[in-house]
Amino acid sequence: MSLRVTRSLAIFAVVLAPGLVRADEPPALSRRERGDLAIHARAILRQHCYACHGGEKNCSTLPILEHPKLIATTNPVPFVAPTKVTGSQIVQFIEDGSMPPGDRPRLESKEIDVLKKWIAVGAPSFPVAFDDAGTLRAMLDDIATHQDDAANLRYFSFAHLVTDKGPPPDLVKADGDLKRALFRFGITTPPVPVDDSATLFRFDIRTAGWDKRDLFEKAGGIYPINTYDVLLLEYPFGVAVSGNKRLDDYFATAKLVRPIPFLRADWISQALVNAKNESSPLAADLLSLTDLSAALQKEGRPGIGEEARMPYGPKARPFGGQSSVPAALKPDARTPILPFDAWYSGDVHADPPPFSVIAELVDMKRASLKSVTTETPFQLKVTAKKKMRYVLLLVQADGTIRVQPTNKDGLFDADEIFLTPAGSASFKIASITSGAPTANEYFVLFAAEMDEPLPLATIIRSRHATNPNPKEVREPLQRFLFPQEKTKQFDPSKVVRKVIPIPVTSG
Ligand code: HEC
Repeated sequence: MSLRVTRSLAIFAVVLAPGLVRADEPPALSRRERGDLAIHARAILRQHCYACHGGEKNCSTLPILEHPKLIATTNPVPFVAPTKVTGSQIVQFIEDGSMPPGDRPRLESKEIDVLKKWIAVGAPSFPVAFDDAGTLRAMLDDIATHQDDAANLRYFSFAHLVTDKGPPPDLVKADGDLKRALFRFGITTPPVPVDDSATLFRFDIRTAGWDKRDLFEKAGGIYPINTYDVLLLEYPFGVAVSGNKRLDDYFATAKLVRPIPFLRADWISQALVNAKNESSPLAADLLSLTDLSAALQKEGRPGIGEEARMPYGPKARPFGGQSSVPAALKPDARTPILPFDAWYSGDVHADPPPFSVIAELVDMKRASLKSVTTETPFQLKVTAKKKMRYVLLLVQADGTIRVQPTNKDGLFDADEIFLTPAGSASFKIASITSGAPTANEYFVLFAAEMDEPLPLATIIRSRHATNPNPKEVREPLQRFLFPQEKTKQFDPSKVVRKVIPIPVTSG
């Protein structure tokens, strides 16, 4: 508040009497610069003062990381008087050498300058800790002031990058990466910081055209997820939060495909733009869903089966089209929401995994195979130390997903089994539909401990049209997913997902 007053006075002064602008008037900083000052000031106070002021041996009335108490005006000399550097007791005590006391290392002059600058610009606030609980609180407070838009608001956070060890993160770069990644979607209104430290951002999915829920179908009916949900299905760091009424209200309003309140913003940048600064296949999918959404609106929201005038789907690249699929990133150790339905990462399991499963392609003599030739029989060998249930999916190179019935009927009852299609002695791939010399298909094996129920995946497809030209396969997007009401029925920490690539060569 006080900063705003100072700023508008400054403008007033400039307009009416430029000569009266005080030389020490703080320059107007960006939200990022102010946020970084807050993060930096907190890091300095944490390092030099927290041990006595708030840490284990709290030996005074000053809880140094509790911002509201720092700036409280109850003291004759406030600990921190926003915009008044010399009127702030912490600066007085640091400069006269009384704090930190005794033979504790003094602050470097650079550090003192940061604290002074931070106070000069109004001492923007920071949380006691940059943890998930704090981020969630800031997010729910923000939603409370934007209730009318809550259904379309999503949140991205950098808070996890701020640690109590090591230097403050480079959020200028992280911010820029996020903006550039979203700019690929024509998003020119970047996410808005909601906290003083600018680590949490509000994003209105309508600005990206990601909000409509008529994009997918399942068995002749609309399957109501939106484009943002397709991003959410890939998210590897979700953590279940329970017993929070305000959060449950938000989930009920926003209808997220997974109960994940906010995403790590740096994950979004990496998921959408690869290391070579190209759009990822996931970004292409999202972009194509955005186009589909616009086309559906333009055509007056046609019903299921009336999609002839819709754009073609993107080039299908299940699991990134790779023959060695990287495993999903390490999940959070607490109660993770595992990305079992991710389309662009491989193996998924809790950390540590509940049991080990090994799966490989073998020929009819049971020797392992690096790739499979068309028209040549093969089997899937699965080894595990435990009795299990399983579900097997087959994902073709063009993105078509099938639940694969097998000879063992979903029960894994020995140390080693050889899976084949139900009623047949082997798998066999007839041809590569695209006509290319090689392609990648995939088995996706879901295994669970015997007493754990394992629901069938739901298969959905987007309402894109199909390109009739077989040389350029562009089909609707397909996804398999476990709807929330079903995920509640099984314990994700007891389920392992394995992706087994089937590199196919034309024989
Ligand atoms: C080794 C422990 C220790 C460290 C480290 C330390 N202080 Fe203190 N500080 C104290 C103690 C003890 C008092 C109370 C002194 C008293 O009451 O006479 C105090 C008092 C203060 C006060 C006066 C308000 C009050 O609660 O009495 C301020 C302001 C203060 N410290 C600032 C700082 C700042 C800023 C830092 C870090 C740059 C810092 N201190 C680091 C031990 C410490």
